[in-house]
Amino acid sequence: MMKVMIPPIKCQGIKSKLVPFIKRAVDWSFEGRWIEPFMGSGVVGFNIMPRKAIFADSNPHLINFYNAIASGKLDGLKVRNFLEQHGEMLSRRGQDYYYEVRERFNKTHEPSDFLFLNRCCFNGMIRFNRKGDFNVPFGHKPQRFSKGYITKVVNQVDYVHVMSRHFNWSFICQDFKETLKDISEDDFIYCDPPYVGRHVDYFDSWDEENEQYLFEKLSQSPCKFILSTWHSNQYRKNVSLETLWSEFHVLTKEHFYHVGAKEKNRNPMLEALVMNFTPKHLEKEPVERAEQLLLLEKLAEYQESEGLVL
Ligand SMILES: C[S@@+](CC[C@H](N)C(=O)[O-])C[C@H]1O[C@@H](n2cnc3c(N)ncnc32)[C@H](O)[C@@H]1O
Repeated sequence: MMKVMIPPIKCQGIKSKLVPFIKRAVDWSFEGRWIEPFMGSGVVGFNIMPRKAIFADSNPHLINFYNAIASGKLDGLKVRNFLEQHGEMLSRRGQDYYYEVRERFNKTHEPSDFLFLNRCCFNGMIRFNRKGDFNVPFGHKPQRFSKGYITKVVNQVDYVHVMSRHFNWSFICQDFKETLKDISEDDFIYCDPPYVGRHVDYFDSWDEENEQYLFEKLSQSPCKFILSTWHSNQYRKNVSLETLWSEFHVLTKEHFYHVGAKEKNRNPMLEALVMNFTPKHLEKEPVERAEQLLLLEKLAEYQESEGLVL
């Protein structure tokens, strides 16, 4: 099993579980730059370990956080001291303390407060209201920052710190349109945009127009790209795979999202990777591709017979 490095920040749609699947599909010389216009937590690129990379996102707090690590403003030791001190306050004062830090963060935008909030807010969500304020409620775990948990986060911070010093990585806050402006043949683009209609907030929204623009840019891309998207779930299928993206190669993988702890609340989702090349492992293993297509057909038949596809 491939070991996946987990980043210090969590976010909705984080691809940690899909990293082995994505990594296996990446077919690249590593000569140019890894371009990730929607970095989120950064988990995909961090595990690819490119020599040169542009990690970009429209959320300035994510980018500030990673720039603070890259510059050394934040490192493992500072994070340990910070989380020990503020974790202790949280265990004594509970949610009042969480909301105090949240209010402070919304005034000062300190990356260490952002990390603290991200690690003890509800479900590790990142959400900003119309004024641009972080507004995720408390995650109800005042004892969140145990010694073991802090060590885990510290190691994650250290890993990014060391990697960003060792390699030529830039963290830039900008719209994806800007990031996709100067692309060269040797680069590799990995795009994981928000899903249309899924989620909207101050820094993170997505519509058909953006999707169309992204499609046009990627279609004309001089380099290879992979786009992460969804294929289908019990109720719906992503029609853009048959329309907009139909000319490209599509790989799929089933993934389960958990809602609560109960087994019956495991929601299956078929995740998809769209790419402008045939991944090497499929060229060598046509049987696997054939089996996958067969599986997909069976799933579609089953869904249709059960009236599950809209
Ligand atoms: C699905 S998440 C990426 C998750 C990431 N691949 C991971 O595994 O953590 C989408 C990201 O796109 C960013 N985003 C949304 N709209 C954007 C835009 N117009 N330009 C750049 N980034 C955008 C959001 O802030 C969010 O971090």
